[in-house]
Amino acid sequence: MTDMTDHLKIARDGAVLTATLARPDKKNALTGAMYDALRQALNDADADASVGAVLIAGEGGAFTAGNDIADFLSGGALPALRFVRTIAACKTPIVAAVEGVAVGVGATMLFHCDLVYAAPSALFKMPFIDLALVPEAGATLTVPQRFGMAKANEMLLLGDAIDAAEAHRLGLVNAVIAPGELRAHALKQARRLAAKPRGALAASRAMIRGDVAPILARIDEEAKAFEAALKSDEARAAFMAFMSKGKA
Ligand code: COA
Repeated sequence: MTDMTDHLKIARDGAVLTATLARPDKKNALTGAMYDALRQALNDADADASVGAVLIAGEGGAFTAGNDIADFLSGGALPALRFVRTIAACKTPIVAAVEGVAVGVGATMLFHCDLVYAAPSALFKMPFIDLALVPEAGATLTVPQRFGMAKANEMLLLGDAIDAAEAHRLGLVNAVIAPGELRAHALKQARRLAAKPRGALAASRAMIRGDVAPILARIDEEAKAFEAALKSDEARAAFMAFMSKGKA
């Protein structure tokens, strides 16, 4: 398995591959190396017949605060793009355990997971426009599809957050689980998926998810707009404001 960064812990629990975001001092904000390692973990899961499900979780009371904003200033968004294309097309069922912040890609990636469990502390936010960016990971397609246009606009245009209870009501989260039990519960559900007859599960999952091509096309379309926005003066100003603790 992968060993590209200390900030992603990969482990096996029977037929479940667990990937734990482990950069707690930065609320598990994702660096290029972390995206690459997570993408590699998903590819490894797809290539390894002994893996029946993937569990993604975060360490230290946060899921992830999204893309590392310092990385936005210093480089492009290619590792992020490669990761979101991979998670959207991943063949292995994915379970997520969300405690604390799930911001930016931390929220948008969840729309590609099969089961999502959240602690009461979970907070989901997609403040791309506040950073002078545009949504990514196919969120302009998946969020209105899942939540309806009214709520999608509140979250994507206004950048409003939702808590665990609301995410449950809106159908992003399967269940709100007591914090001490979250990981064990998510792992149990991942184990249950991994124990199902593989062929029937894969065929059913593919039909439930539907055609992935329009999602990948939207991801690419968003990525073009994202790359352009990333270089804008307004985005640079927003990143600088965050880095200098303005947290605009
Ligand atoms: N990129 C880089 N560093 C980040 C980060 C990010 N996305 N999110 C948090 N951090 C860092 C903070 O700068 C801080 O670092 P420091 O201790 O060296 O100063 C540390 O993580 C802890 O974050 P802090 O802001 O103090 O925690 P908080 O509980 O007050 O707030 C958040 C948590 C997630 C609400 C807040 O950090 C935030 O808004 N982060 C940016 C989220 C974002 O916009 N992501 C990109 C979306 S496209």
